[in-house]
Amino acid sequence: MMNVAVVGYGYWGPNLVRNFMETPDVKVTMVADLDTARLARAQRRYPGLRTPTNFNDALNDPAVDAVVIATPVSTHFELGMAALRAGKHLWLEKPMAETSLQARRLTDEADKRDLVLLVDHTFLYTGAIRKISELMRSGSLGSLYYYDSTRINLGLFQKDVCVIADLAVHDFSILLHMLDERPLAVSASGMSHFSGSPENLAYVTLFYGSGLIAHVNVSWLSPVKIRQILVGGSEKMIVYDDLEASEKIKIYDSGVRFTSDADRIQEMRVGYRTGDMWSPQVPVTEALRIESEHFVDSIRNKRRPMTDGELGTQVVELIEVAISSMRGKGETIHLRQRERAA
Ligand SMILES: NC(=O)c1ccc[n+]([C@@H]2O[C@H](COP(=O)([O-])OP(=O)(O)OC[C@H]3O[C@@H](n4cnc5c(N)ncnc54)[C@H](O)[C@@H]3O)[C@@H](O)[C@H]2O)c1
Repeated sequence: MMNVAVVGYGYWGPNLVRNFMETPDVKVTMVADLDTARLARAQRRYPGLRTPTNFNDALNDPAVDAVVIATPVSTHFELGMAALRAGKHLWLEKPMAETSLQARRLTDEADKRDLVLLVDHTFLYTGAIRKISELMRSGSLGSLYYYDSTRINLGLFQKDVCVIADLAVHDFSILLHMLDERPLAVSASGMSHFSGSPENLAYVTLFYGSGLIAHVNVSWLSPVKIRQILVGGSEKMIVYDDLEASEKIKIYDSGVRFTSDADRIQEMRVGYRTGDMWSPQVPVTEALRIESEHFVDSIRNKRRPMTDGELGTQVVELIEVAISSMRGKGETIHLRQRERAA
């Protein structure tokens, strides 16, 4: 039996507790939070659970094997580092830290101590993203032209991070995971409409050497909720709507062909292909459930998880670059040049 302590029982923490409670051979023995009302809620739902306000209780308990941190981003480095130094395996919410330097130090600390560090980039464990990755890797989409994501809704405004770190983080993890290439340049613009509050909407564009262009539109200020990704390739195009109950993914056998045939060029330079649309079966198991089992399996078999500190650090690097571009009013940041200059 593996004992897990969850720190932070706000919006996301209850989902983590529920999933770990349902994971075979795992017991959530403790939930820590500074807020006693939230702890009382956890107590009511899971009688017998230990619910300290001080997270050090989890670190000082030798029976706790792993600590799951679901507190605000600004606390991740301090709490995560303390958990690793206490010899606990660590599940850290996304984004793993405020800066890439902090992310790198957490990754190094876990490696030095032979501890598992998993960063919760939940989307990579969803059936839909696993299916899309499979299609992209198999080459059936052809050459990739674009990735176009919209993640907009009203709220939840975060106090300590802007909308890029809160929402575009999902697309950065998806792009890093799916593609064999890293962006060459990033340009972002965004705005805070409320004084003293981080940017609440942003548009991020990532340029790749292969010709792929990725665009991510994120906002906490939309009257409607949209969670949609379009991927366009030379052979097929995908529409992924995360809010669809069934048929989350639709694959279109559509595209265009440009002819260079001198005889035909006047009459029809562009040929449109609108073929069939089909919706593949996508596994419906909750992503967090797959991820919690993967975390436990990584600990048992001493393996790096799919979303390890390395991926988590690369995500934080992209967040930093995008925020820096946004604060420079859309200034294009070339990543190779930046790396050389660093
Ligand atoms: N993976 C996902 O899809 C996903 C979704 C939502 C949120 N998150 C992440 O989860 C984390 C938490 O987000 P949230 O929306 O649940 O925030 P929240 O503000 O609703 O909850 C955070 C909780 O942490 C507690 N807390 C703060 N400092 C603490 C400390 N030192 N010790 C113990 N408890 C402490 C707060 O009292 C609060 O109850 C963030 O990193 C966020 O990005 C991830």
